[in-house]
Amino acid sequence: MTNKFNYFIGNWKMFGDLSSIRLIKKISINLNRFKKNKFKVVFCIPYTLINSYSKQLKQSNISIGAQNVHYLYEYGSYTGSINSKMIKNAGAEYVIIGHSENRINGDTDTIINKKIKSSLKNNIKIILCIGETNKQKINKQTNRILKKQIVLSLKGIRSIKNIIFAYEPVWAIGTGKVPNKYELSKNILYIKSQIQNKFKKAQNINILYGGSVNPRNIVELNSIDHLNGYLIGGASKSSKKFIDIMNKTYK
Ligand code: PGA
Repeated sequence: MTNKFNYFIGNWKMFGDLSSIRLIKKISINLNRFKKNKFKVVFCIPYTLINSYSKQLKQSNISIGAQNVHYLYEYGSYTGSINSKMIKNAGAEYVIIGHSENRINGDTDTIINKKIKSSLKNNIKIILCIGETNKQKINKQTNRILKKQIVLSLKGIRSIKNIIFAYEPVWAIGTGKVPNKYELSKNILYIKSQIQNKFKKAQNINILYGGSVNPRNIVELNSIDHLNGYLIGGASKSSKKFIDIMNKTYK
């Protein structure tokens, strides 16, 4: 297999306490088997765990990310919010922006654009989630939605060197459903072409797939061209499943 999978990213969502790091430590030990395969493993965890985990994993092969961030670059009067300076200071190297679970809570493409700019300014790598809802898919609006999300969220951004794209069809998240092979390759290629259109000089465009990735469907997903890795929700809360996914990819 060619080494096209550059990222395996776990998204813990609202899960985990200080002791859950044991799951990541098990994964880290298993990762030593793949020394010659150059891919990156990142766990995006709740804010409350970032500082402790990033310290404990400092010398390891796993990086830590946040799952969201406030758009303001400076401090401000936003009760309960955390900005990119704060996650960086706590030890995060990555942040998920534009996840559909936050889009439904008010993250518009304009806000997402501001979040990306402020995070890039603080040297944080972005995992930008895009994807259509079931209704949009049925109404054949997938391309239009993907294009809109890409264009608006990247407005005014000059380089995508520190941006990883995650195609996450909303209807596939946490549902056990995944797009068929044809659909998925078509959408991934479309996303790639839109990004290339906008960033003519972009070299390594990384597009991940996210939505019900698990040890049972990973072999089929791996056969899809132009995929550069996965954003894994539910299955990232089990070290066994996450290890299985990697082992089946690099068997
Ligand atoms: P899932 O979540 O793997 O549980 O579908 C993916 C995500 O929301 O990033």
